This record gives sequence, C-alpha cells and structure tokens, in this order.
Amino acid sequence: MRVRTAVLISGRGSNLQALIEAAAAPDFPAEIVLVISNMPGAGGLEKAQAAGIPAKVVSHKGLPREVFDDAIDAALREANVQIVCEAGFMRIHSEAFVRKWQGRIINIHPSLLPDFKGTHVHEQVLAAGVKTSGCTVHFMVPDLDAGPIIAQDNVPVLPDDTVDTLSARVLEAEHKLYPKALRMVAEGKAKLLGERVIFRD
Ligand code: GRF
Repeated sequence: MRVRTAVLISGRGSNLQALIEAAAAPDFPAEIVLVISNMPGAGGLEKAQAAGIPAKVVSHKGLPREVFDDAIDAALREANVQIVCEAGFMRIHSEAFVRKWQGRIINIHPSLLPDFKGTHVHEQVLAAGVKTSGCTVHFMVPDLDAGPIIAQDNVPVLPDDTVDTLSARVLEAEHKLYPKALRMVAEGKAKLLGERVIFRD
C-alpha cells in the first residue's frame, strides 16, 4: 500500500507537478490522493485536475486561523491522508494543527535553512551577498520554517543573478529534492523524533 499523501498549495504548483510526476512511477512509495488550495485561482488546481487527482479549495477568507485549519484537517481526514506536503502554501497554521500532524507534515523552502526564513527569500539571499543558496525540505513545527531538516540541495549564486534567475535555479533543485524527501518519509527512512530527524537506510 502506498502512503496516502496530500499536497497543500496556494499558487502555480510546480512542486506539486514534480511530486505528481514522481508518484507516477510504480515503485514510488507515496500516492497523491488530494490537493488543497486556499486560493480558488491557483494554477496548481489545474495540474491536479489534469492528473485526475481530487482537488479542493478551502478558502481562508474571513475565517479565524483555527477554523480554517479545522476545515483543512477535516478534508485531510476525510481522504484518509497519512502525509501532508506543503508546496508554496502561503498560510501560517495554528500551533494545534501543526501538533496534530507533527511528524507527518513536511514543507519545502527555497533557501538553505536555517538561513533566510520567511518570504522574499531570494531578495534576502541576494542582499546578503552569499555565494551559495539552495532549498530545504523539513518537518513542520509550530515555528515558521524552523523544523528539523530532512534534505537539502545547494545551487551557486552567480554575480549577475537577479531574483528571477536565482529562483529559477533554486526551483529546478526543489523539483528534484521534494520527491526525494517525500520518498524518505514515506518509506520511514526519515522520521521525526522529538526535535531531530532519525535517518536509516
Ligand atoms: C517554491 O519556491 C517553494 O519553495 C516556496 O514557494 C514556491 C512555490 O512554487 N515555498 P510552486 O507553487 O511549487 O511552483
């Protein structure tokens, strides 16, 4: 049985697409069974539909954080989801929601965490003048972009980089990293134990 996985998005869904393509391989240990977007117009919804994956919009508009999270939680439970992947999901969850899913919810961030958390990541990287950037997949904890790291990949920052050129280079790395990290979690090769990730071959 493949691990039932949901992907939470807010936008174009290129990481979602990478996960869908990886999960198309018969030996991939996870199956994408649900896509949830908080934005009705998210491009990723069409990608889900094109792949025949149930896609749901749960709008956050006018809802207190806890009520919105309860609606997401209900949709995940209804679909018997076991692992949640956040991929460009632009809402911060309540602590209760993250605790409920802790160890079973992962996120991708376009920097080498713990550096450059939050938004406008590539702007931050270019302003800092670092020579290397990259991407991180981590278990989610209540603090933003702070969870224990499952996998990282790095890319060079070139002297003439702009936000567009750097983000494109990082995104290419993200598309390879996220399926790799999901595989590790789905196979039980990366497990959250307290504040740490335990790895086994
Ligand atoms: C990615 O860079 C991801 O790391 C960040 O938001 C972006 C989402 O892109 N959290 P996409 O929607 O997967 O194309």
